[in-house]
Amino acid sequence: MSQSDRFGKDFFESGKRKPWLYKDYNYEELYPLFRFAATAIKTQFNPERVLDVGCAKGFLVKAFRDIGIEAWGIDVSEYALSTAPDDVRKFLYMVDLNSDALPFADSYFNCVAFLGTIECLDSHKKILSELRRVTQPGAGMYIRTAYRTDPEDTIRRNVHGRGYWLKEFSRYGFKLLPTWQGPFANQWSYGTLLFERK
Ligand SMILES: C[S@@+](CC[C@H](N)C(=O)[O-])C[C@H]1O[C@@H](n2cnc3c(N)ncnc32)[C@H](O)[C@@H]1O
Repeated sequence: MSQSDRFGKDFFESGKRKPWLYKDYNYEELYPLFRFAATAIKTQFNPERVLDVGCAKGFLVKAFRDIGIEAWGIDVSEYALSTAPDDVRKFLYMVDLNSDALPFADSYFNCVAFLGTIECLDSHKKILSELRRVTQPGAGMYIRTAYRTDPEDTIRRNVHGRGYWLKEFSRYGFKLLPTWQGPFANQWSYGTLLFERK
C-alpha cells in the first residue's frame, strides 16, 4: 500500500469510534480547534511564515491565513489534499516526508507546526534535515506527538518517549524551549514539545 493510500478516505472518514482512526475529519468540527491552535502558536512565536507538516485537509493552514499569517502545508495524502477547503488548496503540496525534499527555499520559514504526524512516519530523518534547511535561525517549532499508542494501531509506527525526541531534535539543531503544556493533552499521552532552531 502506498503512503498516500494508507492515509486515504478510510483513515480520515472511517465512521468508526477507534482512537487510532478519525471517525469524520470535517471542517465544521475541527476548524475551531485549529483556530485555537493557530492563535496559541501566534502568541508563542509571533511568526511571519509557518509551515504545517502533515497538514491533512489544510485546516490549520486556513486558520493561520484567517488571522493574517502566511502559511503553507505539506502532506502525502492525495485524499486529504483533494478535500481541503477551496481557498487553501493552492497553499498545500503533496510531499512524502519519509523521502522527499521540500519545495521551499532555504530559510523561508520562521515557524513550523508538526501535529500528530512524526509518529506516523517510517523515518523522520529526511524531514528533520529538510526542516533545518527551510527554517531560519531562531525559528519556532511546535510539535505534538503520541508517546504511547494502542497495540492495534498500525498507523503510528514511530512512537517514542519524550527523551528520545529531545535527542533527535537536538541532533538536527533544534533546542528545547521550556515546554508549555498545550491544549491537547489527553489519555493517549500526547506531548507538546517546543523547539527553537539554533
Ligand atoms: C494523525 S494525522 C494528523 C493530521 C493533522 N496534523 C492534525 O493534527 O489533525 C497524520 C497526518 O500525517 C500525514 N502523513 C503520514 N505519513 C506521511 C508521510 N510519509 N508524508 C507526508 N504526510 C504524511 C497523513 O496523511 C495525515 O494527514
